[in-house]
Amino acid sequence: RDLPSIKEVYKDYFLIGNVVSTKDLEGVRLELIQMHHNLVTAENAMKPAYAYNEEGEFDFTAEDELVQMVEDAGLLLHGHVLVWHQQSNELLHSDENGNPLSREEALANLRKHVKTVVEHFGDRVISWDVVNEAMSDNPPNPEDWRASLRNSGWLQAIGPDFIEEAFRAAREVIDENGWDIKLYYNDYNDDNQNKAEAIYQMVKEINERYAAENDGRLLIDGIGMQGHYNLNTNPANVRRSLEKFISLGVEVGVTELDIMAGENHELTEKQAMQQAYLYAQLFQLYKEYADHISRITFWGLDDGASWRAANSPTLFDSDLQAKPAYYAVIDPEGFI
Ligand code: G3I
Repeated sequence: RDLPSIKEVYKDYFLIGNVVSTKDLEGVRLELIQMHHNLVTAENAMKPAYAYNEEGEFDFTAEDELVQMVEDAGLLLHGHVLVWHQQSNELLHSDENGNPLSREEALANLRKHVKTVVEHFGDRVISWDVVNEAMSDNPPNPEDWRASLRNSGWLQAIGPDFIEEAFRAAREVIDENGWDIKLYYNDYNDDNQNKAEAIYQMVKEINERYAAENDGRLLIDGIGMQGHYNLNTNPANVRRSLEKFISLGVEVGVTELDIMAGENHELTEKQAMQQAYLYAQLFQLYKEYADHISRITFWGLDDGASWRAANSPTLFDSDLQAKPAYYAVIDPEGFI
C-alpha cells in the first residue's frame, strides 16, 4: 500500500484501467483498484447474454448493481460489449435449431439489442466495445477484410455489414441524446500483422464511407488492442500494429493487457524478469504514442483472479503482492 500508484505515474499519459466483477468492488481488492486505476471494465457482467432474462426479455438488474458500485467507487466505466459471438444471445441471429434467421430479422434484432443497451446505460459509460473479435485469427488475404471475418452467427445471418450496422445503431442513440461516448472495435492477436491489416482495412472503409455522408465525422472512434500477450510476443510487432491503427486517425485503447508466463501457477525468477521486461518495453512504447492512446486496461488485478491464472499474467501475485512486472510498469526506463 505504500507503493506508487500506477494511475498517478501515468496521469499525464493515459487512463489506467482494470477488469472487475462485483467481488473486486469491496474490501482490499477495491482499495487496490482505486489506488492504481481510474477506469474499469466489467469482466463478464455487461456481455450480451447477461442483458436478457430466461424469457428472453431485457433485464439489467445485475448490470445496474455493478454499475452503481463502480460509480460509488468513483471509477469510470468502459462498456464491454455490445456484439460478440461468445457469451451472447444466440436467438438474436439463429432459430432454435441453430439455423441463421433471415437477414431482415437478424438485422432488426441487432439494432434493437444495440440501441436498447446503449440507451439503458447512457453516459454512465465513457466508451463501448461495439463489436468484439469479428476478425478471424489468420486472414488468408488481409487486404480483403470481408473474406477475413470470423464465421460467426452474426456473419451468417446478416453478412459482413453487421459490423457497420452495429456501429451505426450505437451512433444514432448517442447522437440523439448528445452523449460523448467513444465507440470501439476490439480484438486480440493485435500484434499479428495479417490480422492487424484486415482490421485496418475494415475500419478504414467503414469510417471513410461514414465520413463522406457526415461531414468527415468518424463512426468508429477507436480500436481496442486487447493485448493478451506472452513471452514470445515481439514488441516490434505491437509497435507496427499500433502505428498502423493510429494512421487511421482513430484513438487506440489497450483494453485487456496481460502477459502469460510460466505454467501451473508458477514463475521462475527468470520468467518473472522476462515478463517484467516485456511490460517495460510495452509501456515505453505506449508512452511514446500517449497522444493517441486513451487508456491502458489490465485484464486481471492479480494472478489468482486472472482468466489465465495458471500463467501468472498480471502485475500482482495471488497474495496481492507486487511482482517485478509491477515495478517495470512504474518505471520502464529504469527497469530496462
Ligand atoms: O457464470 C457461470 C457460472 O454460473 C458457472 O457456474 C461457471 C462454471 O464454469 O461458469 C460461469 O461462466 C463463466 C464466466 O466466465 C463467468 O465467470 C464461463 O464459464 C467462462 O467461460 C467465462 O470466461 C470469461 C471469458 O471471457 C468467456 O469467453 C472470462 O471470465 C473473461 O475473462 C473472458 O474475457 C475475454 C473478453 O471478454 C474478450 N477478450 C478475451 C477475454 C479473455 O478470454
